[in-house]
Amino acid sequence: MSGPNKNYDPVEVTPLHADEVERTRDEALDAFRTAADLSALQEAKLAHLGERSPIALANREIGALPPQARKEAGQRIGSARKAINEAYAARLAVLEAEHEERMLATEQVDVTLPSSLLPGARHPLSLISEQIADVFTALGWDVAEGPEVEAEWLNFDALNFQPDHPARQMQDTFFVEPAGSGTVLRTHTSPVQARSMLTRTPPIYVICPGRVFRTDELDATHTPVFYQVEGLVVDEGITLAHLKGTLDHFVVSMFGEGLEARLRPNFFPFTEPSAEVDLKCFVCRGASVGNPDRPCRTCGSEGWIEWGGCGVVNPRVLQACGIDPERYSGFAFGMGLERTLMFRNGVEDMRDMVEGDVRFSRQFGMEI
Ligand code: DAH
Repeated sequence: MSGPNKNYDPVEVTPLHADEVERTRDEALDAFRTAADLSALQEAKLAHLGERSPIALANREIGALPPQARKEAGQRIGSARKAINEAYAARLAVLEAEHEERMLATEQVDVTLPSSLLPGARHPLSLISEQIADVFTALGWDVAEGPEVEAEWLNFDALNFQPDHPARQMQDTFFVEPAGSGTVLRTHTSPVQARSMLTRTPPIYVICPGRVFRTDELDATHTPVFYQVEGLVVDEGITLAHLKGTLDHFVVSMFGEGLEARLRPNFFPFTEPSAEVDLKCFVCRGASVGNPDRPCRTCGSEGWIEWGGCGVVNPRVLQACGIDPERYSGFAFGMGLERTLMFRNGVEDMRDMVEGDVRFSRQFGMEI
């Protein structure tokens, strides 16, 4: 024996001996026939049809034979290879069909099985935002929107923030790069006031819910991304009294009879006069005030809690937005939706509102 197949172990084939070729062929046919599955068949294919299989090695040796022996050896080996190839293909077809049948049977989905997944629910902040919009659209107001990436001019300058106002500091505002781009992530919904005045003609009655951003760390009472709702009225003869009446209606619509708002003087650059809107404490309803036996943790026994800001629109803002302050006046207010939800539904930790746990959302009762 000679040639490359002499190192092949354990089967050695000499192409010249018919019985060796036939034995090799029969072994291959046997191996294919008994291959139980596709991976066994692939193993058998490698052994009996692969590059170092006896039949391949024998085939390679034909060229080394004396010319008169080549034809006969070539025919014998060729027909054995053909038989082996055919046996492989036949078994492959059978095993593939079996495999497919098995997959179809085992991958069947039983759609009648009970599901353990909780169905989704709308987020309470979406619900409260829509509810607020409903209160005001019922009064004939429009819902106005603005972009979250806002011009610094609309977020600050148009609203009468001076260039050195502390709210512009890096630690409060997300400035959009490159530095000096004049663009910020809006820090409040008040730029929508400016947009509304620039794009509409009075009378203007708009409510503007939206997402705002500040460089706050997430804790129980702060999140860097939160929601506000802004209200703006510009018309002839608008006074602080209209503001108070509107807020009273808003409070009753959101919290029910028995809770009221009060205005406490404060400063905002875009309103003059300005006030904080306080809400009567929803826990003690004022009963803790001057009553050491009944202290209230929620309002610190003050009887009121801070809800938002408001005021009469500063004439400078009207002017910056192209509205004649001699003819028109207006009022504005703005509050956080998270705070509103905390007050109305007793949510104690703001983090619950940002985590997106469906079990939290489901408590508010609106499934998708
Ligand atoms: N933009 C203010 C803030 O984010 C809230 C606010 C105060 C809105 C007074 C107003 C307003 O419309 O009149 O703190």
